[in-house]
Amino acid sequence: MPIIAPSVLSADFAHLEQDLQMINRSEADWLHVDVMDGVFVPNISFGFPLMAPMRKYCTKPLDVHLMIVHPEKYVERFCDAGAWSVGFHLEAVDDPIPVLDLIKAKNVRTCLTINPDIDPTRLLPYLHQVDMILLMSVFAGFGGQKFIPETMDKIRFIRSEIDRRGLSTLIEIDGGVNTGNAHALFEAGADALVAGSAVFGSENPELTIHQMKS
Ligand code: DX5
Ligand code: ZN
Repeated sequence: MPIIAPSVLSADFAHLEQDLQMINRSEADWLHVDVMDGVFVPNISFGFPLMAPMRKYCTKPLDVHLMIVHPEKYVERFCDAGAWSVGFHLEAVDDPIPVLDLIKAKNVRTCLTINPDIDPTRLLPYLHQVDMILLMSVFAGFGGQKFIPETMDKIRFIRSEIDRRGLSTLIEIDGGVNTGNAHALFEAGADALVAGSAVFGSENPELTIHQMKS
């Protein structure tokens, strides 16, 4: 089943409850939660204070994407704040294993992610140790960027490795996803697609989510 995770980064924070109710009504599977620290990426989004209202008003699982340095300092707090899955960047840590262990100890799903300039072969040692791989299809930091086409080959590469080893690790794609490329991304082997501006910038977000899934 194709999974769609609208990114709350593109929501209207003045009317967050309304936007979350739209997500609840829609066929969206998860809510993607983009946390940026202004150090790992050149932008700051939001942090813990928004987790509570999102948990309160959103009935869909919270798929937390940490774009921060030192994720080991904060992953447990995001788990405690109600994250359904917690992902962090491979290039932000020396060794991802201890950070994955902190998340696993909280019984929360793990996700390892890489920016477009990171060699996807660096993910191979961890495919069996995570619930999900998140391949960035734009450079992390901002919504509304253009999809990087080279992502397609990376999806096929990681898909073939996951299948060859008989793993159930999911592949999520994040950045520049829209109704025009969603089908091709699922075809290439993606399980889950994040979409921010394409959903919240749409005149009919629920229809857009529906179209991406079908
Ligand atoms: C970018 C974030 C994305 C972003 C996607 O750093 O990780 O999740 O919200 O936004 P769109 O779909 O507009 O590219
Ligand atoms: Zn994201």
